[in-house]
Amino acid sequence: MTDRVVVAGAVYSGGRLLAARRSAPEELAGRWELPGGKLEPGERPEQALVRELREELGVETEPVARIPGEWPLGPGYVLQVWTARLLSGEPRPLEDHDELRWLGPDETDAVDWLDQDRPAVAEAARLLRDG
Ligand code: CDP
Repeated sequence: MTDRVVVAGAVYSGGRLLAARRSAPEELAGRWELPGGKLEPGERPEQALVRELREELGVETEPVARIPGEWPLGPGYVLQVWTARLLSGEPRPLEDHDELRWLGPDETDAVDWLDQDRPAVAEAARLLRDG
């Protein structure tokens, strides 16, 4: 069976990367992630990402490029990550998160990322530093 996709965004603006602290479920609460969520039936990953970031953060974004790789999330799900440019709005933790932080190029290790997000965060951090 094909794994279902969870899509997350390495959202950047002004040379900083957005980190979001999960408020639920209990086993993930307090850990930081690249915000995103599950694809709905018939959705392409880029569409799902734009929708999830609008719902969760109240912002409009534009997916830019896929970060190569795919990371298992437990039974039946894999994580795919896109870089995404902030087009409008200031992110607010409307759903799923209780705190947001913009991390500069030297701060991307400053939060306790979910293990499965770390490879994509490392690549996003490299892109931030190298432009
Ligand atoms: O909002 P929705 O229910 O579509 O999805 P979600 O609860 O935000 O994410 C689904 C699952 O993907 C969660 O259980 C997280 O463990 C995982 N996830 C992750 O590991 N890393 C991310 N950057 C985003 C989601």
